[in-house]
Amino acid sequence: MTNQEIMDLDKEFIIPTYARFPIAIERYKGALAYDFEGREYVDFTSGIGVNSIGGGNPHWIKAINTQAEKLAHMSNLFYTEPCANLAKRLCLSTGMDSAFFCNSGAEANEALIKLARKYSFDKYGANSNRNVIVTLKNSFHGRTMATITATGQDSFHNYFFPFLEGFRYVEANNLDDLKEACSSGDVCALLIETIQGEGGVLPLKDKYVIDACNFCHDNDILFLIDEVQTGIGRTGKLFSFQTYNTKPDAISFAKGIAGGLPFGGILVSNKLKGVFTPSTHGSTFGGNPICAAAANATLDIVEEALPQINEKGQYIKNRIESIKSPYLGDVCGRGLMLGVQIHTLSHKELAAKFIENGLLVLTAGKDRIRLLPPLNISYDEIEKGLIAFELTMKGI
Ligand SMILES: Cc1ncc(COP(=O)(O)O)c(C=O)c1O
Repeated sequence: MTNQEIMDLDKEFIIPTYARFPIAIERYKGALAYDFEGREYVDFTSGIGVNSIGGGNPHWIKAINTQAEKLAHMSNLFYTEPCANLAKRLCLSTGMDSAFFCNSGAEANEALIKLARKYSFDKYGANSNRNVIVTLKNSFHGRTMATITATGQDSFHNYFFPFLEGFRYVEANNLDDLKEACSSGDVCALLIETIQGEGGVLPLKDKYVIDACNFCHDNDILFLIDEVQTGIGRTGKLFSFQTYNTKPDAISFAKGIAGGLPFGGILVSNKLKGVFTPSTHGSTFGGNPICAAAANATLDIVEEALPQINEKGQYIKNRIESIKSPYLGDVCGRGLMLGVQIHTLSHKELAAKFIENGLLVLTAGKDRIRLLPPLNISYDEIEKGLIAFELTMKGI
């Protein structure tokens, strides 16, 4: 099929929840994507952080094929090997104590929300009304009813009334605001992203993360981190919380964990191990053996890539900062999660210009281009992408 035929078919039969760019991607190898006319694009998006190990990795393909031949799905009423191994591996490399698996970031955050409320219900009783989840303004936590409510952006709190009760929003990096929000004694958890990804690739201050964690621990308020975008090596550590001297009570993850297959989950500390019991939570596809096998193979490759992630991110940052353009602002972020401020055109129009020059980029916040290249991207691929970046900046 041609790009045009696919676009026409899509427009006729798919509900347009995404404003797509006018290309159809046929295949993906390393960090290079190809459309149906054979045009090559350097991918600085990783499919919004999912293709953590790029495309066509033979170790990942073999793991999927081997597992598919043995067992594609059973159900969570039975034990399966890839899941058990994955949980052990994630717990040992984070110091967390147990895992729950699901299929996406929103579903993982839903699990955190339910976990926090049940912890508080079990410990303090239904009459305590200690069920409020505090999140940060400008955050993003997903698109289910609970997670859009958790998302601290007014633009998401529209159309779908009534939203859920029991969420409160505080300013990022403002400990007093957090303390004030918790002063009535009805808060059971704080949920944060350490770098607000969709919100503009804005890292929280290290001191705020540590102080907020200590404040929560001192008040038995669960300290929860949404690692859906920052996790699985993206910021130079397996999970971003490992950058700070903190231990969250639980984290959520998804996106990059299975290298392109739908998978997510939460990791919880010992304190929360007994909160979910049979029938209090679940997911038919959660922990699917093929996806779990893909996740184990992805982690093999991410672990190998980890030592170079900060260096590659710094290289991209330095090269972009050296481009002479009146429109370029600052470059923020950590590891291979970068946000470039550009003061011209709408960010959607800008992204379209980069794509015209063969570079796939994302947008974030009000005025940023977001870069999330595959974690094992080669320097040759980075260079190709940066040439297209510079060309675009010179042409606007
Ligand atoms: C920080 C964060 N949390 C949650 C989500 C939702 O993940 P999903 O789209 O897999 O439901 C996203 C998606 O962009 C995200 O960036």
